[in-house]
Amino acid sequence: MSHPEEGSSAALNVDSCPDHVSRIVGRECRMVGRSRTLRRMSTTYRLAVIPGDGIGTEVVAEGLKVLDVAAARHGISFDRVEYDLGARRYHATGEVLPDSVLAELDAADAILLGAVGDPTVPPGVLERGLLLRLRFALDHHVNLRPVRLYPGVATPLAGKGPEHIDMVVCREGTEGPYAGAGGVLRVGTPHEVATEESINTAYGVERIVRDAFARATRRRNKVTLVHKTNVLVHSGSLWKRTFDAVAAEFPQVETDYCHIDAATMFFITNPERFDVVVTDNLFGDIITDIGAAIAGGIGLAASGNLDPSRAHPSMFEPVHGSAPDIAGQGKADPTATVMSVAMLLDHLGEEKAAAEVEAAVAADLVTRGSAVRSTSEIGDALAERVTG
Ligand code: IPM
Ligand code: MN
Repeated sequence: MSHPEEGSSAALNVDSCPDHVSRIVGRECRMVGRSRTLRRMSTTYRLAVIPGDGIGTEVVAEGLKVLDVAAARHGISFDRVEYDLGARRYHATGEVLPDSVLAELDAADAILLGAVGDPTVPPGVLERGLLLRLRFALDHHVNLRPVRLYPGVATPLAGKGPEHIDMVVCREGTEGPYAGAGGVLRVGTPHEVATEESINTAYGVERIVRDAFARATRRRNKVTLVHKTNVLVHSGSLWKRTFDAVAAEFPQVETDYCHIDAATMFFITNPERFDVVVTDNLFGDIITDIGAAIAGGIGLAASGNLDPSRAHPSMFEPVHGSAPDIAGQGKADPTATVMSVAMLLDHLGEEKAAAEVEAAVAADLVTRGSAVRSTSEIGDALAERVTG
């Protein structure tokens, strides 16, 4: 992961880079940064912000509050462009994600997303047309979902503490049953046929499995493959053979396999079994909700939709969704969004700023207890902790 060196000199040899200042430190130049000496006075990242639906607007405001404080401490800034996407725009214009907007988003360094989905819009329109379209078009093949119980946070699991619940799920993000392959026949008749095929490519499986093994070497050196090889024999075989082949290149990494049904049980009974979990798109969707539940609830679950190749910007979002029942009331917990902001900073190579945001969250969680605070009170408290 290359990144411009920090330094005080503004001397840049940016002949092959576009001349807009933010582009100097943009993706294009970061990719060549390793072979050139780039020095910066200040780094400006282009951040696309999609508050989206429901509580998305409220939690994103707090995420940005904390981001601004962390950025200021590290001499970086974010050139932010907010995009009006979601139910409001759909009702007003019929648009979900115009191609021109997708192209603009693709030119950002990172995307912060609040939530997508609204009861006034037919199911699937925004989920498929906006969220999944972004994940697919921007090649977010690593859907990274940490599952970590922070000290001070209650888990529903009796006898389990932070030492038992610390894993990361690498959910494949661009294939599987989410790919959209399938169709219908004779809709609305007694003879209706509906198919939803799971697409698995050798290329797609290998890249997520490789990411999982590489990640394990930076953690506790264990990867568990979760699938259903005893029933889904075609895709299961591809996943298992790929997993075994990649594992052979990582002799220091311990391997494990669980069928998805057993994995849901072990997440509850034996979460300490897991370090890095690698799995397909749908299995990953399901087990990461269990992961959120055991690690203090969906209000604390952060995620990154990553394109580790950096050909496209990665997108960071809380897992919780739009929660229309509490939208607009200042009740939503912005912590998952703030943790997603930490992941965003880390992805951009701003590890110190990321660690400060994470530490602020951890410190707040220890003392949080059952006190009821509004969305902005939590955001203020986290921002203050980052300020120090
Ligand atoms: C998630 C959500 C999405 C998914 C939906 C809203 C499309 O459940 O991010 O986990 O299924 O991936
Ligand atoms: Mn989900």
